[in-house]
Amino acid sequence: MQTVTDLLFRLPMRESHREGIPILPGGLPLVGHAPYNLGDTLTFLRNAAARVGPLFWTKNVGNYLLVCMGEPGFELLKNRVTSSEFIREQVPDFVGDSLLSRDGVPHRSLRSAMSGPFTPRGLTSSGAATISAEVIEACVAGLPQGPFSLLSHTQGLALDIIFRIMGIERSELDAWNRHYREFILGAIPLKIDLPFSPARRARQGRLWLDARFSRLIAAARGKPEMPGTLSALLAAKDEEGRPLGDPDLVQNLRLLALAGHETSASVMAWLGIVLAQRPDLWEQLRDEAVAAPGLPRSPEELKRHPFAEALFREVLRMYPPVSVTARQATEELELHGKRVPKGTMITVPIGVYGYDPALYPEPERFDPSRWMGRRLPPSALETAAFGGGPHFCLGYHLAWVEVVQFATAFARELARRGMRPQLAPGGAPPKLRYFPFGQPPKRTHLEFVRA
Ligand code: HEM
Repeated sequence: MQTVTDLLFRLPMRESHREGIPILPGGLPLVGHAPYNLGDTLTFLRNAAARVGPLFWTKNVGNYLLVCMGEPGFELLKNRVTSSEFIREQVPDFVGDSLLSRDGVPHRSLRSAMSGPFTPRGLTSSGAATISAEVIEACVAGLPQGPFSLLSHTQGLALDIIFRIMGIERSELDAWNRHYREFILGAIPLKIDLPFSPARRARQGRLWLDARFSRLIAAARGKPEMPGTLSALLAAKDEEGRPLGDPDLVQNLRLLALAGHETSASVMAWLGIVLAQRPDLWEQLRDEAVAAPGLPRSPEELKRHPFAEALFREVLRMYPPVSVTARQATEELELHGKRVPKGTMITVPIGVYGYDPALYPEPERFDPSRWMGRRLPPSALETAAFGGGPHFCLGYHLAWVEVVQFATAFARELARRGMRPQLAPGGAPPKLRYFPFGQPPKRTHLEFVRA
């Protein structure tokens, strides 16, 4: 495929190598390759590797970042010779001292305390899977006939699910949503702290959320029978038998809202968009969904939805919400036969693994049947969209349950109305763009028509 980046890569290279590793050509003055990494990131990275090989430097606003493709890149996620702790310094107010930015023993003990409520059994026994099913059914029942932006609906839905499983009352969701939107302005890399600036609004949003999380935790401590994930987290213990303290709970509840919202929202929206373009897949999903007694809420019930699960996996393969993650080398390494100095920042393109023709014949073809009829669970590389190693997504099973519930609810609701989805004319074409999460355009619109 010919893109602007292909043309840029053909420009003459002034400085071609650093530490014996090729520097990707085509960097722009001052900003380097940063603009290409927003937008069609997956194509950019695949074209770059085709041009200079699986290990190369990119420039990002004056800094060199090493990109490592293939299995050696995936291996780095195990954090044996790399670390994720740099995240705490880079975005202290945003990710803070949470699971994502810890390593070694501090990460292991926090993770062991938090894992139970996010296992398939934990999601069922805490009632989180039931809460999620109820929120999804209500949202899907309220979808208009169209044209409408499905992404706008799924963004609200995914955030409501996270907040409701934390025990936040329905009547308070609007206030939480509003302050959360202020908090995520912290992702904008403009740190000028003036009244109404993104940095000031993000800090105020975070202070509001943290104060409310503290109140929520205090209230939940007095109500151990309360359904949902917060109660389960309060009852959880790490491998040494210690419970989670309030500061860890606040930091990580904030992380859960951040990590588990735009990602799931994007997958649900892509799923609807794919179904709108593929009546054959729509019919297969509808038949499976209406044959079930309702939305799955337990691992056993989930097994009755193999086609919805296959759609979940194929959407994640082709439209991964997270394109890349990063690690810092804690010692000198060898990657693809080249020496990489200690301290190097390394980008691991987790979104690109889904396009590996060795794993997926005809990777550009959307084909959920690749995932059907398997006896073994997906391999680590097949779930690369959720990362790998000790930081593998804590919310993997929740995302799986939510998306299968959403697909089933969507199909059941439309079958009840005697309708099917289609792309509404005049909207934006559904192209995957990263900013920084991968999503369909908000202006890609769906409408429901007579089946
Ligand atoms: C389709 C949906 C999702 C995708 C694609 C996704 C992707 C990821 C990825 C790639 C990572 C690893 C980042 C790294 O290693 O640098 C991660 C970590 C994480 N995710 Fe997810 N995620 C999703 C949904 C969720 C949900 C629903 C939740 C929570 C409710 C969640 C919570 C987390 C947490 C807490 C971590 C950090 C784990 C750790 O550092 O130990 N995610 N996710």
